[in-house]
Amino acid sequence: MNICVIGTGYVGLVTGTCLADFGHIVTCVDNNEEKIDSLNRGEIPIYEIGLDDLIKRNTKENRLFFTTDLKKAVEPSLVVIIAVGTPPQEDGSSNLNHVYDVARDIAHLVDGYKVIIIKSTVPVGTGRKVQQFINEILEQRISPEYLNSNPDASSHKPHYDVVSNPEFLREGSAIEDFMRPNRVVIGIESDSALAIIKDLYRPLYLFETPMVITTIETAELIKYASNAFLATKISFINEIGHLCERLGANIDHLARGVGLDNRIGQKFLHVSPGYGGSCFPKDTSALVHIAKDVGCDLKVTSATIEVNKNQKLMMIEKIADLVGDLTAKTIGILGLAFKPNTDDMRESASITIIDGLQKRGARINVFDPVAMDEAKKVLHNVTYAKSAYDAVKGADALVLLTEWNEFRYLDLLRIKKLLKQPLFIDLRNVYEPERIKRLGFDYVSLGRGSVRSNEKVNSKQ
Ligand code: UDX
Repeated sequence: MNICVIGTGYVGLVTGTCLADFGHIVTCVDNNEEKIDSLNRGEIPIYEIGLDDLIKRNTKENRLFFTTDLKKAVEPSLVVIIAVGTPPQEDGSSNLNHVYDVARDIAHLVDGYKVIIIKSTVPVGTGRKVQQFINEILEQRISPEYLNSNPDASSHKPHYDVVSNPEFLREGSAIEDFMRPNRVVIGIESDSALAIIKDLYRPLYLFETPMVITTIETAELIKYASNAFLATKISFINEIGHLCERLGANIDHLARGVGLDNRIGQKFLHVSPGYGGSCFPKDTSALVHIAKDVGCDLKVTSATIEVNKNQKLMMIEKIADLVGDLTAKTIGILGLAFKPNTDDMRESASITIIDGLQKRGARINVFDPVAMDEAKKVLHNVTYAKSAYDAVKGADALVLLTEWNEFRYLDLLRIKKLLKQPLFIDLRNVYEPERIKRLGFDYVSLGRGSVRSNEKVNSKQ
């Protein structure tokens, strides 16, 4: 099947590449010439494990192409996938300009029959509006005035179906998530389009991946509701983490005890300095906005957003409480990306935390295995270290912010020697408190009480 994917961001690039790997002929289009040039040179603009090889294999086997020429890509394609960005605006709503621009361009190009899939996360009702928008342009294209002034134009109105097919892939495991999804959600109204979608996802269909076939509006809302629910799980456990500290309980054991109930599930119950990334912060705000527009006050989602903002700020307080006056103190930070296995810095807790520490006079040394180039675009006046050890050299405290695997097996005795004082603040609960204590660290994590090397447990924790 000939497919065109518009937008080569995270979702577009992974979707196009994986569909090519399913055996389809895929052309990815982007109006960013630089990006398309580098993709054609085999340089991948995002860090995603496995993507590089998959792109190379499929381009070599002539199933995957990159171009800036929308016409060339759309015309031969039966399926056109819109995967452009819907960035947040000041008020939390989504900016849909790219989606509508692309819809207009497609409407001018569509000929015969096409299935237009919206993969971008869009507010409920957007699919319907895109349908109306394309219809209006198609009506203009067959109007007597248009046909008179364009003698070569066809008087046949092209057919098309709009489908909502939100994407649930996570950065860092995007290929696996696309190839082995928990479900595929399809908002659709026509049987012929559904037959084409089933063909598009044939390998998943054969693996018996559940398909949720529903209306366009429901599919659009499923995406927001899923992300809001997951974000709520995190904010909930982060709040309970603070309670554990006050009551001397252990959040890790608690999360396991709670999560082993099948109705709750163990995933997304890991305490953290606050969730980040391009989806949870954006989609929770957009959902609140979508609801407000129809007179609904989403109290739970609003609280989730609030708790997450506070969580990031509370981490600054926590570090300041432990280190004391931060003026001219040096903090060695391990991990900057919003989670491991990505170089994405969007909404990362590290940005808020580092900014807060700097405002209190701290000097910041940082190390992240892959996100330092991205970090340079958003962090200022920090020292970029060559390794985790380099980052903690002479520091008054080590703060672990992202749980990269390489931070799970640090040479702790070496770290201890390098630090000015053995203060280890682990905001991802990577280490076992007792083990760190035995090595002579003052160790503080989230929701597990602090463990001082002199065995006194800080009552504040
Ligand atoms: C998320 C959704 O999981 C995905 O389905 C959607 O398509 C896009 O948004 P992503 O943002 O890539 O994916 O990352 P995810 O792994 O979900 O993590 C998001 C944030 O939550 C990270 O900052 C992570 O550190 C944090 N998190 C996750 C926690 O704080 N605790 C957890 O238990 C899980």
